[in-house]
This record gives sequence, structure tokens and C-alpha cells, in this order.
Amino acid sequence: MKDQTNRIPPATEPERQYYYIDLASGLLKERAGRLNHSLTFHVTTFGCQMNAKDSEKMYGIMDRMGLTYCEEEKDADIVLFNTCTIRDNANQKFYGHLGSLNDKNHRNPGRIVMVCGCMMQEPECVKRIIEGYRIVNIIFGTHNIYKLAELMCEHLMSGRFVSDVWDRPGEIVEDIPSRLKYPFKAGVNIMYGCNNYCTYCIVPYVRGPERSRNAKDVICECEKLASEGVKEVMLLGQNVNSYGNGIKDCITFPELLKEVERVEGIERIRFMTSHPKDLSDDLINVMKGSSKICRHIHLPLQSGSSRILKAMNRRYTKEQYLELAKKIRDELPQTSITTDIIVGFPGETSEDIDDTIDVIKQVSFDGAFTFVYSPRTGTPAASMPGRPSGEWIKHEFDRVLTAVQEESRKRAGLFTGSIQDVLVEGISEQDPSLVSGRMSNNLIVHFPADASLIGKICDVKLIDCRGFYYIGERL
Ligand code: SAH
Ligand code: SF4
Ligand code: F3S
Repeated sequence: MKDQTNRIPPATEPERQYYYIDLASGLLKERAGRLNHSLTFHVTTFGCQMNAKDSEKMYGIMDRMGLTYCEEEKDADIVLFNTCTIRDNANQKFYGHLGSLNDKNHRNPGRIVMVCGCMMQEPECVKRIIEGYRIVNIIFGTHNIYKLAELMCEHLMSGRFVSDVWDRPGEIVEDIPSRLKYPFKAGVNIMYGCNNYCTYCIVPYVRGPERSRNAKDVICECEKLASEGVKEVMLLGQNVNSYGNGIKDCITFPELLKEVERVEGIERIRFMTSHPKDLSDDLINVMKGSSKICRHIHLPLQSGSSRILKAMNRRYTKEQYLELAKKIRDELPQTSITTDIIVGFPGETSEDIDDTIDVIKQVSFDGAFTFVYSPRTGTPAASMPGRPSGEWIKHEFDRVLTAVQEESRKRAGLFTGSIQDVLVEGISEQDPSLVSGRMSNNLIVHFPADASLIGKICDVKLIDCRGFYYIGERL
């Protein structure tokens, strides 16, 4: 596609995208002139940290195209939805939302609606949107978010609906603009996709096979972020412990952590997610020797029953998980362990749930997300027999939730009276005389202070534990 000046777009990335950002910026200015107001955009993000990170990149691209961010989705000229398809209720919620937008859209006929992300990697979702939601102008997937400006140009120049979804990833494109949601903390992708094929999970299908980024690129990004004032980085991957697998001469995840630790200005390092089957002693040792790596490991259990774990293709047993958690508790005593649990997997019985509750009690999780199993099209578990009834699920889910809450309340209370470093994230939503921040172990603390502390790390004495958060006092 050539522009009016007959310039030819560069063939290589990211130069090609900078060309289109420039072109889109001109086209949008013309459009703004016609509509007689400057154009705004809004991004709505569903799902996990990966999507949050992708949204920051797309935010960066739109910012660069000269658009202004608008807090209210309904008022924005350009709206982008970055979707998630991990469970069916996520999809239903999104369709509901698009439906409501259908009506509101009449008020802003010049609006451009874009939909991308994991749901768009499923052909039936794209079909449903094309057939039922005519307000959508541009669709793309998870593998080509960096092409946002190019797709926008295509739409602006043709006036037509544009859809571009790739069924497998292309090259990893570096150096695309990005805008942080918080100026003091940022996610950093260290790998994309997943090769684990847990039988319930759709991620490997919508995010593609596992690909690690070059360590050099990861470190460069951390250095750049630090120079911009970022204090905390969260290294992101579906299974960070397999970082570098299959790449010749690539360093391991614990080695990568050591490199990030050397980046001046970065004061805290987090990572997500750790698959229990791959969490190594090296990682524990590196954490032990580090003053920057936060004392928090998210270690999804999914089920405490070895039989169900096998059917889930998790590749560890109840005993192996317990042993690993014990090792973390012994070697890194201040570290919080959080988890994900699924209830209602095909063939699951109350005895399996007893095993899950046994693990919850033995490990005493600091926190847990509990999900009802949702069958995903194309995954092996979706065609497994023995789906438990809704009534059974409700009952067992409550049992699991009660156990989880009891344990996390116990764990949270352990820190009363201690002094912790807290990264202040913002003014408390409940009480404007307080600020809210996070301890290294991810627990939330509110304490009296003003907005000038946002983005700073302070020493805070924990006075009172209110269930799942603390009230503190700055030293
Ligand atoms: N890569 C991460 C998990 C990413 S998905 C890991 O393996 O640890 C986040 C969580 O969603 C999973 O840990 C799992 O508990 C839940 N989940 C994934 N697929 C699901 C499904 N089909 N139904 C219900 N919960 C699901
Ligand atoms: Fe899904 Fe399993 Fe991969 Fe996690 S490790 S993203 S649960 S397939
Ligand atoms: Fe959802 Fe995609 Fe993340 S399916 S959980 S947004 S990888």
C-alpha cells in the first residue's frame, strides 16, 4: 500500500511501522479537521499481564499517531478492545459489552472500533463479531499487535472493514513505542507463547509456541525503563522457568535475573508465572542472594490430586508440589506463595477436592485465585467425559474458597509490627488521606501520606492487619 506521496513503505520492521505511524498521524489529522475536534482513544484490556503489556505497546503506538487518551470509553473517537479467552465467561462479558456499545455508537458515528487479542485468534469468535457486531472496523490477533498503525492506515484509506489474524507468530519485533500505565513499574516480556499444553488451557493455541526474547533485548529494555524512572519490573512469561529453552547459547532464567539485578535504578524485580515442574534450585539460590527480587512466587497448583494433575498434563504430582513449596518456605521464609486452582475438571470427585484442600492447608497459601473449569474449544479436556454438575461445583468451590481464605488470613497476619519497604502506587481508593502501596511479598499496605510519595519506596511499620491488607505508618 502506497500513500498519496507515493513513498514506498520500508520492508523491514520496525522501520515499516514507524512509516505507518507517520502516515496514520497525517490521515488522522485530516479526519480530525473534518470532524472539527482533536481525536481521542481509549483502550480496554481484559485478561492477564501479557495483555496488559500488549496494551501498553498499542497505547504507545496510538500516542505516537497523535491521538490523546480519553478516560471514558464512551467519549473516545477510537476504541480498542484487547480481549481474553481463558474462560468462557470472559468471552460472554465481552460480547455483552460490545452489544451495549452498539447502541451507544449511534452518538458517535465517526468512531473507529478495533478488537484484538486472544479471542480474535479463535475463528468462531471472529465470525461471530463479523456477523453480529457491525460496529467493529478493525480486527487483529495476538501475533501482529505491532501492526496497529498499518492496519489503521488500511482502514482509513479504504474506509473498509479490515481483518488480519495470523495463525502462527512471525518474527519478534523489537523497538515499537510503548507507554507505561504507571511511570514507576513496568512489565517486560521475556518470552511469548507456551509449549506446555495443559489439557484445559487455550493459551498455547492463541499465543503460539514458546519463544524467548534475546537476553540482550530484555536487559536493554530494563535499562531504558530505569532511565525513564521505572523502579520495579515484572518479567513476564507463561512459564518463566523455561526461559531460553531451545535457543543456542541462551542464558537461563536465574542467570537472566542476575543480569536484571545489575541494572542500576531498578530496585525491585518480580516475575510471573512459574510452572512448578520447572522451578529450579538455581532460582531459589539466586533469590536468596538477591536484594532486589521480590519475595513472592506465583506457583499455580491447579489441583492437589495427582490423578487430576495427570489428566491436566501438569507433569508434577501432589507430593512433588508439596516438596517444592516446603523448599521455598524453608529457604526463603519471607516469601509469599500464591496460586491458581481450578474446580470442576472432568472426572473430578470430592476426594480430589480433599487433596486440593490438603495442599492448601499444608502450603498455607498467601493468596489464591480459584476458577471454575471452563471447557475451551479445541483443547483435549473439552472432550473428556465426566463433567461434574453445576450444583457439585458450587458446593466444592465454596469448600476450596473457605480453605483458601482461612490460610491467607493466617499468613497475612504474620507481619504485624514488622517494618517493610513499600512501593507507593497511588492514593487509597477508600480514604484520600491514605496512600496505597505494595510490600515485596505483594501484600497491600495503606498508610497516611500524600501523592508526592507515589512511585517512591518507603519504610513502613505495619500496625494493623485488616484481613488481606495492612494499615501502616511511615517511618
Ligand atoms: N501459564 C500460567 C497460567 C496462565 S492462565 C501457568 O500455567 O501457571 C491463568 C490461570 O487460568 C491458570 O493458572 C488456570 O488456573 C486458569 N485457567 C486456564 N484455563 C482454564 C480453563 N479452561 N478453565 C478454568 N480456569 C482456567
Ligand atoms: Fe496454559 Fe499450562 Fe501454558 Fe499455563 S503452562 S499457559 S496453564 S498451557
Ligand atoms: Fe487471557 Fe490471553 Fe492472558 S487468553 S489470560 S489474555 S494469554
